[in-house]
Amino acid sequence: MRRVYMDANATTPLLPEVLDAMRPYFIEHFGNASSIHQQGQHARAAVEHARAAVAALINCRPAEIVFTSGGTESDNLALFGLVQPGDHLITSSIEHHAVLHAAEKLRDRGAEVTFLPVSSEGVIDPGDVRRAIQPNTRLISVMMANNETGAIQPVSEIGRIATEADIYFHTDAVQAAGKLPIDVQTLRCDLLSISGHKMHAPQGTGILYVRRGTRLEPLFFGGSHERQRRAGTENLPGIVGLGKAAEIARTALVDGTMDRVATLRNRLEEGVLAEVESAGVNGIGAPRVSNTTNIYFEDLEGEALVIALDLKGLSVSGGSACASGATEPSHVLTAMGLSPAKARASVRFSLTKQTTEDDIDFALGIIPAAARRLRELAPVNAGTLG
Ligand SMILES: Cc1ncc(COP(=O)(O)O)c(C=O)c1O
Repeated sequence: MRRVYMDANATTPLLPEVLDAMRPYFIEHFGNASSIHQQGQHARAAVEHARAAVAALINCRPAEIVFTSGGTESDNLALFGLVQPGDHLITSSIEHHAVLHAAEKLRDRGAEVTFLPVSSEGVIDPGDVRRAIQPNTRLISVMMANNETGAIQPVSEIGRIATEADIYFHTDAVQAAGKLPIDVQTLRCDLLSISGHKMHAPQGTGILYVRRGTRLEPLFFGGSHERQRRAGTENLPGIVGLGKAAEIARTALVDGTMDRVATLRNRLEEGVLAEVESAGVNGIGAPRVSNTTNIYFEDLEGEALVIALDLKGLSVSGGSACASGATEPSHVLTAMGLSPAKARASVRFSLTKQTTEDDIDFALGIIPAAARRLRELAPVNAGTLG
């Protein structure tokens, strides 16, 4: 059976070029980047080459890149590395759980936390950030693009507010990297998280950008790796893969790839809305990353549609994939004011750079029929959505 993958915000496949770049570092060039001998030197050179490639993607110095095990670790390092009991943290109600749950833990440990609301389109008001600042505010953490709706947040304005108030600013750019140009100088952020597997690098890789001079308490203690900001032998093949993926992502940002993805996403969206009654796009009025659409299908369960589409060969996701298995409606959609039923009736389609016109035709060939069938099977829900 044909399979089409539209769940890039959960993870993306490794690109063949990325695998090719990584391959020699498993066996032939297996060294520990901290060793003095030749194998070690070779490994160190590869790690530093990758560091420079990632730095070029976000316009920072290579020394400001800390390699981590992924987006979750980067977010945790940013928050726990800066916020102490008694400090105040400003974040938003639509962050990924890697930020939200870290913020809740900091609150348990005696920090004050403000979770800012969002508009019905899923966007934070920079004015709310400004109004939330207190004398003890230590850090503002607001994501660059939301993983569920794709909504792009006003991070440049927030960066300006943070700079004026002399407060650290962290942005989770996990869903922005490779999709939007990122320049940490114009963003004026002090910390920025990226996850490798959302941009065709291996799972379990990531970076935290740490602006020079930012005093960050490490999460791990051990060797003096990563300029004492992240102890532990570097994941050599993973880092090499991340560096290669960053080089490829840089090219894709300027060669029209993302415009092509946006055209496909818009076709999918328009096709679904034309064919399925009582469906709509969550956050359609917001600026969005080009690969994501989050669609509600009134009077059906999003999870049931995800399963029905999976059986027909289309992989999509209900709410955030990282929270799948949980029966709670998406915290992002409910923060936008959707009723729990409407949030549960929502499905996320996230295209990869490899998505084709044919894939869109395939999806449009099965989504309307699957939605109709589910509504016929469960008419009891009719009229429950506000
Ligand atoms: C916005 C955002 N932040 C953080 C993460 C966590 O990244 P990782 O899976 O690399 O730990 C994700 C993963 O879905 C995400 O979408």
